[in-house]
Amino acid sequence: MDRAIGVMTCPYSAIVPWRKACSISPAAAAGGAHQGGTGAGTRRQRAHDHRLSAAAPPSCSVLLASVCNTLDALIDRLIDPPELRPSVHPGRVLSGNFAPTDELPPTRCPVVRGSIPSSLAGGAYVRNGPNPRHRLPGRTHHLFDGDGMLHSLLLPSPPSPTTSPSSLSEPVLCSRYVQTYKYLLERETGTPVFPNFFAGFHGVAGLARAAVMLGRVLAGQIKLKHGFGVANTSVVFFAECLYALCESDIPYSVFISPSTGEVTTLGRCDFDGRLAIAMTAHPKKDPITGELFAFRYSILQPFITYFWFDAAGNKCADVPIFSSEQPSVLHDFAITEHYTIFVESQLVVKPSSGSLVGFDPAKVPRIGVLPRYARDDSEMRWFDVPGFNMLHTTNAWEEAAGDEVVLVAPSHLSLEHMAVGDMELLESRVYMVRVNIRTGAVSRAAVSPESLEYGVVHHGYVAAMGILE
Ligand SMILES: [Fe+2]
Repeated sequence: MDRAIGVMTCPYSAIVPWRKACSISPAAAAGGAHQGGTGAGTRRQRAHDHRLSAAAPPSCSVLLASVCNTLDALIDRLIDPPELRPSVHPGRVLSGNFAPTDELPPTRCPVVRGSIPSSLAGGAYVRNGPNPRHRLPGRTHHLFDGDGMLHSLLLPSPPSPTTSPSSLSEPVLCSRYVQTYKYLLERETGTPVFPNFFAGFHGVAGLARAAVMLGRVLAGQIKLKHGFGVANTSVVFFAECLYALCESDIPYSVFISPSTGEVTTLGRCDFDGRLAIAMTAHPKKDPITGELFAFRYSILQPFITYFWFDAAGNKCADVPIFSSEQPSVLHDFAITEHYTIFVESQLVVKPSSGSLVGFDPAKVPRIGVLPRYARDDSEMRWFDVPGFNMLHTTNAWEEAAGDEVVLVAPSHLSLEHMAVGDMELLESRVYMVRVNIRTGAVSRAAVSPESLEYGVVHHGYVAAMGILE
């Protein structure tokens, strides 16, 4: 199975070795809809003891919930109708290749041509992406809004003398929603309860929706202790567990049955109570040490909090980055052998304006370089990189005997479109940025003239030079 580890095909999918991924019994799954596995995890099962109880009916009065629904509908109709903002009109955003799809139970898929590559056999290709369960034609919708749905293609192992007659002989495709607290609550009520965070928080309508959501919280309909993430951004296989990620929440642990291909949500994983609030959807796994490095960003100080996990999944203490001076949107970061790299772009958090995300033309983007195992940010060094508006990283490594950090990442030429949802107008170029830690010199050179984003490298090259040579 190990041969299937670490093959990343895009930021939102991964090949995972399912036999290891299934070391957790599905009997631990929240809801228990799909049971029947064998074996039981140890540390990881305990990590899910804080899993959801969202399937319980909301405790607020039906009348109060109805009032909130009415207020949301009035906001949609009178303050923020989709016709006023075509870039987030659901009829436009949720069309074509982005049209929502239904769940698919495990379905056998015969190989009609060619054969399954031996390097992938016995693994599962898993893709994550937003797929709104509730679609309101009169409510604005951003491409990033929507409940996470996992699409798993389980690939059978090659036949061997020890193969069981009941073993899979054909690939099995299965698509299931990640059963987040939001998903379960809205399934219970039959209607959207949470606002669309990207499209909904805009100007006066954003403030009004925030007030309605606060009313739902005060009424007990929404319990914020369960988070409000949609788990729709990426997947990561780490410490023998598979997680669905979204940066607005902590990871959701998911399970793929090796016997049926069924995809089950195990629960919201707080790593024995050590992970709170949120975690980036693009953590970095060191291919040599097996450690996982991550962070979260916040609208309150510390605006960045850095942390990592050892190879067994034990989380270290948080490292607050107080030298980050204003709340920025940090969607991704990078690691090298000895450093962790953050990039503050001109995309900022502006909750006071009624918008979660805004563009600050006066801000100078900068790169922060921190020793990988720092216990605080006293050794953090920031380097101005004007015009470098990065959302995703491709890779990073060290040169010049460790004096130089090299970061390869796309930079957006017009990031202001992101703030208003005009995704189609985004354009980016991939750059190689060199930061000399000893001299402070910074240089930047385009790698490709094409508009590119979401570039990734094979897991084995993370934090190491090689893929772009
Ligand atoms: Fe991303």
